[in-house]
Amino acid sequence: MKPFYITTPIYYVNDVPHLGHAYTTIAADALARFHAMAGDDVLMLTGTDEHGEKVQEAAAKRGLTPQALCDDVAPRFAHTWTQLDMGPFTADGARRRFIRTTDARHKAVVARLWRRIRARNADDLYLATYQGWYCVGCEAFYKESDLDKAGDAWHCKTHGRPVAWLDKERSWFFRMSRYGEALLEHIERHPHFIQPEHFKNEVVSFVRGGLRDLSVSRTSFAWGIPVPEDDPEGRAHVIYVWMDALTNYVSALGGFDDDAGGEPREFGTYWRAATHLIGKDILRFHAVYWPCFLMAAGLPLPRTILCHGWWTIGGRKISKSIPATRVDPVKLASDLGELSSVPETGIDALKYFLLRETPLGNDGDLIFENLLDRYNADLANDLGNLINRITAMVTKFGAQATPAADAALAAEGPFAALRRVADEAARDARAAWDGFQPSRALEATWRLVAEGNRLVDATQPWALAKAGDNVRLAQVLHDLLATAWWLRRMIAPVLPATARTLHGWLGVADDAPLGWPEPGQLGHDLPPVKVVASTPLFPRLDDKRKDALLARWLPAEPAAAAPADPAAPAPAPVTAPVLPPIQFADFEKLDLRVGKVKAAVKVAKADKLLHLTVDLGEGRDRSIVSGIAQRYAPEALVGKQVVVVVNLEPRKMKGILSEGMILAAGDDAILGLAAVDAEVPPGTRVR
Ligand code: MSP
Repeated sequence: MKPFYITTPIYYVNDVPHLGHAYTTIAADALARFHAMAGDDVLMLTGTDEHGEKVQEAAAKRGLTPQALCDDVAPRFAHTWTQLDMGPFTADGARRRFIRTTDARHKAVVARLWRRIRARNADDLYLATYQGWYCVGCEAFYKESDLDKAGDAWHCKTHGRPVAWLDKERSWFFRMSRYGEALLEHIERHPHFIQPEHFKNEVVSFVRGGLRDLSVSRTSFAWGIPVPEDDPEGRAHVIYVWMDALTNYVSALGGFDDDAGGEPREFGTYWRAATHLIGKDILRFHAVYWPCFLMAAGLPLPRTILCHGWWTIGGRKISKSIPATRVDPVKLASDLGELSSVPETGIDALKYFLLRETPLGNDGDLIFENLLDRYNADLANDLGNLINRITAMVTKFGAQATPAADAALAAEGPFAALRRVADEAARDARAAWDGFQPSRALEATWRLVAEGNRLVDATQPWALAKAGDNVRLAQVLHDLLATAWWLRRMIAPVLPATARTLHGWLGVADDAPLGWPEPGQLGHDLPPVKVVASTPLFPRLDDKRKDALLARWLPAEPAAAAPADPAAPAPAPVTAPVLPPIQFADFEKLDLRVGKVKAAVKVAKADKLLHLTVDLGEGRDRSIVSGIAQRYAPEALVGKQVVVVVNLEPRKMKGILSEGMILAAGDDAILGLAAVDAEVPPGTRVR
């Protein structure tokens, strides 16, 4: 058995799991499941990154010790993966492992790595003074050329927040400059080391630009693994959180050597088969720092760094600091499965969309309408429909046991076409999975789904039954069952709940072999079946249902789909003093109306402004500029009711005429729009 070791990044515990984290874990899970079906010896690892300044700060904000924060949040990640049908991930020697960097075993391996580097080349680690910019969000050191300048402050490109100046902090340095050439050589000799190709090119040009030595310890805070040797000046250093975190991939295998210097069995088996799946935000740490640390320690490198793009919502990266982008994957999945006879298939629908919609290395903007459209087209109309048709026809036409295939018929017309398409689909999907291309693998799989539906349309089994053409009818039913059995396996990496359900409906034995379908075997590999009638797995969503889901998901109501944020500071009390009393007649001067937003776009060069077109029942729409862009994505507002002050003097903002003011509570991130809780005609007065 070939080993296949797939890892996700270990997620920071300053945040709770959101759709961005789920995407990586879902992709890794699908790859793990495919490889298991292909007969590999699979190990999957995920976990939490618990040390560093960022976690220490988040804990302080919540009034917790860092350890208490970690103990609260780490299980939430593990639980989320179980809720998404990927668990359980456990700490012990299981096939699916969860590692925490506060585990004693991990800490010991990090200290070993340090000592090993030191023992090999003592001056690879040296004490000096660090001065420069640091982004706590990334836990990374930056040159000014890596940053954006806004006003007089330098900002991190990923977090958009000002970076901190570390002034002459005494620190251990790692001599990374020594390893640039060796790294370039490794990349050249192993063309699949960094995938996809465009990320490899990015790394190569970065390394060619020259590697600088890296500060790998901090003295200004204590939440980390102590450097395992003394500083002659007597200062206490903790190891740089990235050196600590990256080592998780090895400590989860029991480390790279034991006390006697021998190689632990799992390291020997899995390390060279390691694939680190990561988001592009952390490419440099994985494709540059990590290999350099390993080379310095005299250790082999992982096989592949597999990098994926970012999901954005309304063009903005899903992140803790932008509430409008925070989507709870568990909620989304449960909403999608709400009407299904098997609600877990909602999880499958979410996984399918995320992996099918965008190739792994590309960025994708999550558009909820596209999610619903794909659900209807690919899952309700294509796959769900085919499964229901197959089980319905087999039960109806009485072929409860496996109908026999007729060799002559199988070589004919639609039956031959089915075999050709099935072979191609299995071959192409397999190659795509092997090449880390889930989107293509699913596309290939769906060619077989389409061909199954085409066979039903072309052969019209109900007409055959009516005409008493039992030989041909048996052939159709046989081929449909054979197709169902192939699909049960081919969809399993991404749609495991659907695959399990189909398995049950086909009545196949639990221990029937689940290897990847082999070309030429359609029908020949069909185990005995005992089909039962099915129920709708992916009921079609009509417009009303779609609108209802969109209204739930689009972030117009502040907490709609956002998971609770454990690290958020408690909201500040509302302290603005109450204004002096006014007469009722003064209030009457204010004309407040309900308007319906018909269009919304961002205003160029103004971070906070949106330009809205609002129907106020006047026969012409009004143009209104509103400072709500930090909190609301434009597309989330279309169709919404808003409360508008309609008799304020019009004024121009950024050159755009604003003929009214939208009422909202709070500002920026905690903004909420004033709402009326019933649909009323545009122009209705609010008093
Ligand atoms: N703790 C580090 C990783 C250490 S690995 C040795 C870290 N953690 S994180 O919590 O910030 O997670 C970052 C990862 O989450 C990304 O690399 C990516 O895998 C995933 N994603 C987070 N937001 C995402 C999107 N918006 N889109 C796609 N993936 C996202 O960095």
